[in-house]
Amino acid sequence: MSKKPVILVTRRLSDEVQQRLSNDYEPIFNSDDHVFSKSELIEKCQNVDGVLPCHSEVFSSDVIAALPARLKVIANHSVGVDHVDLVAAKDKGIIVTNTPDVLSDATAEIAILCMLAAARRGSEGDRMMRAGAWDFWSPAFMVGVQVTGKRFGIIGMGRVGQVTAERARGFGMEVHYHNRRRLDKVEEKGAIFHDSVDGLLGHADVLSLHCPVTPDTSGFMTTEKFDLLPDSAIFVNTARGALVDEEALVAALRSGKLFAAGLDVYRDEPGGNPELAALDNVFMLPHIGSATRDTRIAMGFRAIDNLDAVFAGHEPKDRVA
Ligand code: DGY
Repeated sequence: MSKKPVILVTRRLSDEVQQRLSNDYEPIFNSDDHVFSKSELIEKCQNVDGVLPCHSEVFSSDVIAALPARLKVIANHSVGVDHVDLVAAKDKGIIVTNTPDVLSDATAEIAILCMLAAARRGSEGDRMMRAGAWDFWSPAFMVGVQVTGKRFGIIGMGRVGQVTAERARGFGMEVHYHNRRRLDKVEEKGAIFHDSVDGLLGHADVLSLHCPVTPDTSGFMTTEKFDLLPDSAIFVNTARGALVDEEALVAALRSGKLFAAGLDVYRDEPGGNPELAALDNVFMLPHIGSATRDTRIAMGFRAIDNLDAVFAGHEPKDRVA
């Protein structure tokens, strides 16, 4: 019997996923689920044929340069791949895959949760109740923004963007979007295309980011961009914190340019941004967009499908480099 490929699994995955890995591979698990330091990541990769990481492991060009020749594949347990230097991996002949599609519903749900909680002051109300500080009611109390009939602006109309658009339509919102390519009429489902980010921003009562971080999009939400939004807009980010200049976001929330923000992702993770956390008009979650039982299993299985293809000598379905 030929030896099973050795796979480094950097984080604790669901039982079903770990079982499948144990059946088909020789996995090396991270029993206490700690985040590897850069040197530990490099060291642990030395005697493996593949690695199944999450976005918490950064494969920068120097890490990739230190990977052994036997390591064939980085099969990510994430749709985002901004933690991997794809050019360096490609140059070294390492296959990189991700897990698209399977997390679109879960992430769209979190985007809508962020929107609604921001619009209806969810964080403020929750904290008031927990503090036992609810001592007043009037029609003028805790008045928020109703999203019905408002314009929902999406930057990045890929799979997650499209599902989120569908959910927003369910709230009676008009969908506007910017994407590198215009969708066809069937995919658009009536959404209004804007051929530039700046063109979209003035039409977004709610702006929701669904684009990847690339050299072009890194930090693109600056003060100038926030200023282009309608006054009292709502900002939602479930994509990546690195898309946003967080100082500009804090300023827009403090000045009232933004009514509120709903955030699942931050420049610094884990941890977040204490200046954002200090603001009443921010609803915050700890990067849990895809954190449902069903989706975690589906992500793990999709990553294993990609490993299976690579070790069977086939092209993996979700190859990104
Ligand atoms: C993703 O898949 O990119 C999510 O952010 C979780 O890593």
